Amino acid sequence: MPLSCAIVCGHGLTVGVIDLKPLKKAIFPVAGLGTRFLPATKSIPKEMLTIVDRPIIHYAVEEAIEAGCEVLIFVVGRSKQAIVDYFDANPELEAELEAKNKVEALEIVRNIIPPHVKCFFVRQAKPLGLGHAVLCAADLIGDDEPFAVVLPDDLIDGYNVGGALSQMLEVHQDTGKAVLAIEKVPMSQVHQYGVIRPLDAKHFPMQITEIVEKPKAEDAPSNWSVVGRYILTPDVLEALKTQEAGAGGEIQLTDAIAKCLPSEGFVGHPFQGKRFDCGNKKGFLEANIHFGLKQGLTESHE
Ligand code: G1P
Repeated sequence: MPLSCAIVCGHGLTVGVIDLKPLKKAIFPVAGLGTRFLPATKSIPKEMLTIVDRPIIHYAVEEAIEAGCEVLIFVVGRSKQAIVDYFDANPELEAELEAKNKVEALEIVRNIIPPHVKCFFVRQAKPLGLGHAVLCAADLIGDDEPFAVVLPDDLIDGYNVGGALSQMLEVHQDTGKAVLAIEKVPMSQVHQYGVIRPLDAKHFPMQITEIVEKPKAEDAPSNWSVVGRYILTPDVLEALKTQEAGAGGEIQLTDAIAKCLPSEGFVGHPFQGKRFDCGNKKGFLEANIHFGLKQGLTESHE
């Protein structure tokens, strides 16, 4: 059912009402090689490395399902079969657990994906960049529906306020605009991120007036960086169809968003919660400690 969104001007007056389609689909670009984690990633996709007892990708999927997504689209590469298997049923394992009356373990294995959620897998034949990966999923997105892009490397614990994507969905429903998760990073790190120029950094959510992929510190429009959560509209997919290679010689999602900025409103949401960059060893280790302590793991536990 479409939601109505009141467009409110700066003085608090309602100036219009638009119908918003609900957010039902999420794209997970998971085709990357994970070279930073070699040799582990020689035979295991980096998204399958575990944080305590679940693979990194499981946390991202849970966050999308919590936000109401029912169609999960994984953009995989050739070496990612383990991800496909993880989200599929495993009848042999289930039969074995059932025979041994391991009820708790059986529940865990069966409930990774709830029955109302469907998974789709599309292949990205060549690693041509994040924008290209998202474009690989374009045919599964309708002409006028919003969709989420979730990068599992950015693992976010939304504490008690809910997942980052749920928080962003609220902003999308309040403003009717596409929403990017943003976080302030040290100027020395902006070259690793998409970076925005906010119209007014004191006004949340921030209206975005410019976005640049991996700028040098001296060229960066601010140090508000995009982290791996997006709620986008299909205009971005249209822009991606003609997007040329940008930073690092790759087709960048950021560049397609930049093209849409003048016509589409984009806002940045500084989510509440703690982000772990599991794309590097330090962040991965910190996430393991954080989620381990959160589960109350001590020496007396298994
Ligand atoms: C990607 C995006 C970048 C974003 C980052 C967040 O970069 O291209 O704009 O800031 O994710 O993690 P990557 O980390 O894939 O190089």
